[in-house]
Order: sequence, then C-alpha cells, then structure tokens
Amino acid sequence: MRGLITGGAGFIGSHLVRQLLQTDHQLVVMDNAITGGRHYLPAGGGFTCWQQDIRDATAKKKIQQEKFDVIIHLAAQTMVDASIKDPVFDASENIMGTLNVLEAARQCGARVIFASTAAAYGDVVENELPVLESHELSPQSFYGLTKVGVEKYLALYHQHYGLDYVICRFANVYGERQGDKGEGGVISIFAKRIAAGKDITIYGDGTQTRDFVYAGDIARGICKAMTTENVNTVYNLSTQTETSLLDLVRIMSEVSGCEITPKFWPVREGDIYRSMLSNQKAKAGLGWEPQVSLEDGLRRTMDYFRGI
Ligand SMILES: NC(=O)c1ccc[n+]([C@@H]2O[C@H](COP(=O)([O-])OP(=O)(O)OC[C@H]3O[C@@H](n4cnc5c(N)ncnc54)[C@H](O)[C@@H]3O)[C@@H](O)[C@H]2O)c1
Repeated sequence: MRGLITGGAGFIGSHLVRQLLQTDHQLVVMDNAITGGRHYLPAGGGFTCWQQDIRDATAKKKIQQEKFDVIIHLAAQTMVDASIKDPVFDASENIMGTLNVLEAARQCGARVIFASTAAAYGDVVENELPVLESHELSPQSFYGLTKVGVEKYLALYHQHYGLDYVICRFANVYGERQGDKGEGGVISIFAKRIAAGKDITIYGDGTQTRDFVYAGDIARGICKAMTTENVNTVYNLSTQTETSLLDLVRIMSEVSGCEITPKFWPVREGDIYRSMLSNQKAKAGLGWEPQVSLEDGLRRTMDYFRGI
C-alpha cells in the first residue's frame, strides 16, 4: 500500500511512522516542520519526507501525482487556546489545508484517515460517560469546531464523490516526543518539569479526570483503520478509563522515583472536570484496544524526557 502521512513528523506521526516502517507499506511524510520535524523520525531511510505545507497548491499536485492508496491526515493547528486567539489561522490550517488534502485524495481515490478529537464533544454531563461516538457534537473551541467541520466534509465527500474515510477521535494522547502546547499536553509538561527537578502545578484539587492513551496505541489504531472494511464511520480511540490528576502524579512519582509534591492553583475557566470516551466501537469495528498500561507508557515517557 502507498501511504501519505500529513503531519507525520509530529508527535503522533513519529509513533505511526515507526510502526509502519515494520510493514511493507511505502510511506511518504508531508510536514512543514512548524511543531514537528525530521529529527522526530528515525534516522535511517525506508520512507520519503517532503517538507511541504498542506495549504500549498504544489502539495495537492504532488499528492495527485503519487497516487496514494491511503492518506493519514494528522497535520493541523492543534492548540485550543491558539484557536480562540486566532480562529482565522486555525481555519486556514484545519479547514482550508484539509480541503486541499481532500481534493487531492478524491483525485487519486485514496482512503482518508482523519485525526479528530474528544474536543468535538465539548462538555459532557457526567452521567453520559463514557462518551459514545453517537453523542451530540458541541465543541467549545474553534479547534474543536474545525475538527467537527472536517468530519462533516468527509461525510459529504463520501456522499458526493465516493471517497472512503475513517474518523478517529483521540482521547488525551501522551508519550515520547510530545510537545507541551497542543492537546493533552499535561503529561509532557509534568514529565519535562519532573525531569528538570522543577515543581508541577495542578489547577483545581486534582480530582478531575482524563482518559490518557499512549501514542503507540493510537498508532496501532490508525494502522487498523488503514485496512479495515468497516469504513465511512467514526471511532473513539481511548482507554475508556478515567485517571485523576492526583493518581497521575502518584504514578509519575513511582515510575520516576522522585517525590513529587504538586502546587495547587484555582481551577482554570473552561477546563472540563471529567473525561472518558467509550472504546467499544473501536474494539468491535477495528479489532483494536489499547495495550500499553499507564504505568508502562509513563515510564517510557519519563525515560524519554530524562534523556533529552
Ligand atoms: N495529542 C493529542 O492528545 C491529540 C488529541 C486529539 C487529536 N489530536 C490530533 O492528532 C493530530 C496530530 O497531533 P499531534 O499531537 O501529533 O500534534 P503535532 O503538532 O506534534 O503534530 C502535527 C504535525 O503537523 C505539522 N503541521 C502543522 N501544520 C501543517 C501544515 N500546514 N502543513 C504541513 N504540516 C503541518 C506539524 O509540523 C507537526 O509535525 C492533530 O490533527 C491533532 O489535532 C491530537
């Protein structure tokens, strides 16, 4: 299979490329290196890297010429706060950039795997946890909105042009090479600070929960989406487990061997209290479930941040 990974030199892309290099798929990474970069990817060959912005007309042309079977679309503006400060830039990347990719996909008949997000659901009342894919979409940020917009574009590209797609809504992803600005950065922020012997801060009392899923597991889910017959639908990729920030800090303490005493600051406006996505549909439709425990994933993450 010929596969293109947009944003493949970013955090999640770097896990995906490593896994796909173990297969016989032919790979091209397209990335403008705005947050990721070639240094996140393995040094040896086995794939082609195009330093290219998805919004450029030449990007569309290049994709069309290469006739990909599958396009995994990870490239995006990923920061919730940045989307609120500058919704136009967010839309230029996440809507217009994506449309450039979708137009090229339709010309070459490629399946599109799209990286969507739990932010698509917005605030969910606690008795609706774990959140099912059928839950109402009510994003609270422009970032969430542009992701929902692309989900709807995909459904219409399928209806009008027969383009096949799989939407994956990721929970809070963590692991090696994660930046601390995009979504779900709490673990990378904590890990970097712990590795540097600095304090960490929790906003609120630490009982708030998140559904933390290891990036290598997300990469396996994407690989399943590349070949599944159950297409033109959406899957949550999550652990379906809630972890409080207090528990997170306790486990990080254990795996790092450091005594960590967090500082507590007032809750930030707009932070949700509990979060957990159902993964039953991904289990049934993709034959996927996460394999890496939070302890193992945090150990790998801590080791990485201590090593750089
Ligand atoms: N990390 C998470 O917790 C999480 C959760 C839900 C969804 N997602 C989604 O997963 C995808 C990957 O996220 P990530 O955490 O790996 O972020 P990341 O910032 O590490 O990766 C994004 C990559 O896209 C590249 N990029 C950005 N704009 C581009 C453009 N215009 N043209 C070409 N390349 C461009 C960046 O250089 C970077 O390498 C994103 O679509 C994000 O919205 C991430």
